Amino acid sequence: MLKINNNFFDINQKYLFSEIRQIIRQKKSKNIKLIDMSIGDISLPIDQNIIKALHKAVDEMGDINNFKGYSPDQGYIFLRESIKQKYLKLKIKLNLSEIFISDGSKSDLSNILEIFSDQNIVGIQSISYPVYYDSCKLGGYQICFIRSCKENNFLPSPEDIIGPKPDLIYLCSPNNPTGMAYNTEQLKNWVDFALKNNIIIFYDSAYQDFIKQKDIPYTIYQIKDAKNCAIEFCSFSKSAGFTGLRCGYTIFPDEIILKINNKNINLNKLWARRQSTKFNGVSYLSQVAANEFLKNNNNLKYIKHCDANSKKIIKYLDNNLKQKYWGGVNSPYIWLETKNNLKSKDYFKYLINNYNIITTPGIGFGKDAEGFVRISNFFNI
Ligand SMILES: Cc1ncc(COP(=O)(O)O)c(C=O)c1O
Repeated sequence: MLKINNNFFDINQKYLFSEIRQIIRQKKSKNIKLIDMSIGDISLPIDQNIIKALHKAVDEMGDINNFKGYSPDQGYIFLRESIKQKYLKLKIKLNLSEIFISDGSKSDLSNILEIFSDQNIVGIQSISYPVYYDSCKLGGYQICFIRSCKENNFLPSPEDIIGPKPDLIYLCSPNNPTGMAYNTEQLKNWVDFALKNNIIIFYDSAYQDFIKQKDIPYTIYQIKDAKNCAIEFCSFSKSAGFTGLRCGYTIFPDEIILKINNKNINLNKLWARRQSTKFNGVSYLSQVAANEFLKNNNNLKYIKHCDANSKKIIKYLDNNLKQKYWGGVNSPYIWLETKNNLKSKDYFKYLINNYNIITTPGIGFGKDAEGFVRISNFFNI
């Protein structure tokens, strides 16, 4: 008899952001002008240098001497070389074989589980990007939570792990949704814990370009020996405005080795094998565009835009509201405590109905996120 993946019944049937989009559509159909501080999507067009590079790449595709077919499995050398140089500036040496170009980090953050047995326990921060939880559930992995809360400033440490010791851990810094980022000492604590306990960290670095404070590592590989235990997932979505174009990359170090029956298994090779079977690469156009962004890395207009918005919101919160908030410095997100202990969905509705402001109710980010809403500073008014 035909059977489906029953794990689908274990995840929220309506993905949070789709639900929010529906509410926005309903309000807009009544001609109500809303300020959208909910979804972390871009609100400005793509930079002109990138558009020019794209036009040139489009012309190449129509030229008998320059058109491109399938991309090399792990991405074009020109882009991987630029990424290698970017890390070299931080004194981190990468081999090109350690860099995998992706269609944005979401797919890899989910697909990475496939090279690990579903007998592994996966640690997830109790307030986190919903993709980690849903992917684990769909794959039938056991989950253990890492408590993220006011008491630990939404920056949980290994002592905050609840239940059995995990084999794999998702960490996200700067964090979506709390906007908080680990400093060097805190991140070192995680790396040391992972090395000591043979744990692999999936390090979601989608918001690394928002980091401003000196003591916040830009990449996990700035922590000693992190290349032995961490896979880093990066994206051009938020810093270059590529949410529509699609491009990102994953750093999978060669040093991540698992000893099984006295044999050393190089996990990078497993990932490469997985990708060559299930992924056919990212379009040449997106890779050219990403490369152009890296060449003009000083043009962080999306980040400047978010930072200016953050400043306005923080000023308003400081002067007018009594509620506490976190984030907004090294991140496009502000994590706001609800008023009078309101449930997050009720406060979300209160903000729409009274201020025409759309936020994201905390409850969509996990069980400990009740009592908070996320403000996204990508908005444009
Ligand atoms: C924490 C985090 N990681 C990863 C992603 C995925 O981004 P993309 O697939 O666009 O690279 C997002 C997107 O919102 C995110 O918030």
